Amino acid sequence: MQLILMGAPGAGKGTQAAKLVKKFSIPQISTGDMFRAAVKEGTELGKQAKACMDAGKLVPDEVTIGIVRERLVKDDCKNGFILDGFPRTVEQADALTKILDDLGKKLSRVLNIHVPSEDLIERAVGRRICKNCGATYHVKFHPPKSDTCDECGGQLYQRADDNVETMTNRLSVYEASTRPLIDYYKRAGIYTEIDGRQPIDKVTEDLVNVLTSVKD
Ligand code: AP5
Ligand code: MG
Ligand code: ZN
Repeated sequence: MQLILMGAPGAGKGTQAAKLVKKFSIPQISTGDMFRAAVKEGTELGKQAKACMDAGKLVPDEVTIGIVRERLVKDDCKNGFILDGFPRTVEQADALTKILDDLGKKLSRVLNIHVPSEDLIERAVGRRICKNCGATYHVKFHPPKSDTCDECGGQLYQRADDNVETMTNRLSVYEASTRPLIDYYKRAGIYTEIDGRQPIDKVTEDLVNVLTSVKD
């Protein structure tokens, strides 16, 4: 299954991708996570990405498309993958079609987790992530049992771009550059929208229900 998990910043892509990875045993490919890993390693890519991420802007298409192309040819993507946060522009979507053509594959489904914009800032600002295993929490909607990670006891941190100012920019970039992809994939006949305001497990259930009827 070749899937795209779409949604505005803070809609729940990462939360749901982690659940679908367990259920379907295919990898999550998050361009945001890849850029954050590069920032941590201090590579050239990381330096370029950090400036864009801190401003709430997109990393240039040619850079982003390059890292996705390299990732999708890896062995663990043979049986499918879940793209989280890619594509985000029409240019990226066109490039993805080309990459998949070259691999003899096509997209199975595009799932859009829809959450109204007024909820998204609160979701991002209250998010906490485990430094060790990446598990995602929310101070109000999905609080950890203590001030460390429930899964591994790791320390929890807040992402540098999860503040009101950067999040406001991320949301306007989403409206201008990424929202047009909804019509793009509707036209392709592979688009499904899921109500992302429901509790986390109910969103997962809706996603799984759609995916059980997807063939490849
Ligand atoms: P990226 O890391 O992809 O960030 P994003 O798209 O802004 O999305 P988030 O990760 O913030 O949200 P999410 O949908 O994963 O939500 P989550 O599950 O964590 O990208 C970051 C930056 O990298 C970009 O700004 C850009 O600079 C760059 N970049 C990345 N990809 C790029 C690309 N393709 N091209 C160019 N640049 C790119 O949930 C959020 C919170 O809500 C959590 O606290 C969670 O616990 C809570 N929550 C989840 N579900 C629910 C629910 N159902 N009810 C209540 N709370 C919930
Ligand atoms: Mg995410
Ligand atoms: Zn952890």
